[in-house]
Amino acid sequence: MHRSLRLVVVAAIAALSLQATPVSAATTYEAESATVSQGAVESNHAGFSGTGFVNYDNTTGSYVQFAVDAATSGPATLTLRYANGTAVNRPMAIAVNGTTSTIDFPGTGVWTNWQEATVTTTLNAGANTVRATATTANGGPNLDRIVVGTPSAGGTPVQANGQLRVCGTKLCNQNGKQIQLRGMSSHGLQWYHQCLNTASLDALANDWKADVLRISMYIQEGGYETNPRLFTDRVHNLIEQATARGMYAIVDWHMLSPGDPNHNLDRAKTFFTEIAQRHNGKNNLLYEIANEPNGVSWSTVRNYAHQLIPVIRQHDPDTPILVGTRAWSSLGVSDGASETEIINNPVNATNIMYTFHFYAASHGTDYLDTLSRAADRLPIFVTEFGTQTSSGDGGNNFTRSQQYLDLMAQKKISWVNWNLSDDFRSGAVFTEGTCPSGPFAGTSRLKPAGVWIRDRIRTADDF
Ligand code: GCU
Repeated sequence: MHRSLRLVVVAAIAALSLQATPVSAATTYEAESATVSQGAVESNHAGFSGTGFVNYDNTTGSYVQFAVDAATSGPATLTLRYANGTAVNRPMAIAVNGTTSTIDFPGTGVWTNWQEATVTTTLNAGANTVRATATTANGGPNLDRIVVGTPSAGGTPVQANGQLRVCGTKLCNQNGKQIQLRGMSSHGLQWYHQCLNTASLDALANDWKADVLRISMYIQEGGYETNPRLFTDRVHNLIEQATARGMYAIVDWHMLSPGDPNHNLDRAKTFFTEIAQRHNGKNNLLYEIANEPNGVSWSTVRNYAHQLIPVIRQHDPDTPILVGTRAWSSLGVSDGASETEIINNPVNATNIMYTFHFYAASHGTDYLDTLSRAADRLPIFVTEFGTQTSSGDGGNNFTRSQQYLDLMAQKKISWVNWNLSDDFRSGAVFTEGTCPSGPFAGTSRLKPAGVWIRDRIRTADDF
């Protein structure tokens, strides 16, 4: 976030709670055994399961309908296996007992490359109708099957996904499935550490159902540089707290002023070396190495990444690393540049993503369009955004915010909202005076932005 100031208060944090392991059973329904309208069962492209697949007629309204039997009512995942040998997305409307959501079936390169797309839904006990209908004149993709499973409800995000890795332009879980994480950022640990305690983190994990906590450690403004030992220990502790609750944790090196990340390079090497040495056995971390570079070129930020990433990799070969971008992690837009400079000159490292930050009441269609374009070319993680202005304060623009969220859901861009504190500004989710005592669960102490974002973090994950 661009700026903020508040008191230094220290509070102790204690331990934890764990959740039960999920039990899941899956049932397969082959498309060749389903009801087909305007399509044909074929077997000329290898790699399908069962005895064939359905080739939809190239027309809007062609469909495959499955009779799905569920033992009990409740949440379920529908995983559709498909191939689309064209370069054009073939979206389909997935209607479950008449309730429809539309999902994408992007090109898979060739007709023999079968991929999966998953929707989370609710089934009735007994008979259900699942219809997958083509919504464009190209018709549907070739559809192999649907697998009906139990969502990871009851399991934690980390139990469901394990070690993350960057796959192409997406974030994938341990099974190679593309996933989206959604969660909250802390405010600066030097100001709002008291908002990160047993009760607030329980609420974040269990009531908000957050997948990820971003641990925002400022370097200047009374942060790390004033007491490296204290702040490093706070981060160690919060990593353990997130881990105990089955959440992912982003270790955010919150450099901001000065805007050149190289100013703090030696400090960053010291800090991340200790973090990586201590936590390299964990599977739930992401390292964000430069919060918001500003006033410097992309090549300056890139040089910093080239200095720091090999140091981290000596101790931790597989934790994804998130690299800040020019002009407050706007991919350059706030400087009148664009993502092109990164596409043309990417960081020379693997398992990395680039960060994008936005504030919906300040950042309109140029930002939205940049995010949409960039996400097709670069792995992007939105490690910070707000529904208000870039000061983290002012009126909320929920309409614009929803446009961003819809785009990020569609492109599986992970996101983290700013911020989990009781700062007076509108973007701090709790009303002033909530910390340290709470209550943190429910909505009684939430500002409007808090009510809005909690609703959107709580919705079922598509893991
Ligand atoms: C090709 C391909 C079919 C596919 C069709 C389509 O003809 O062989 O399997 O269904 O394209 O565009 O839908």
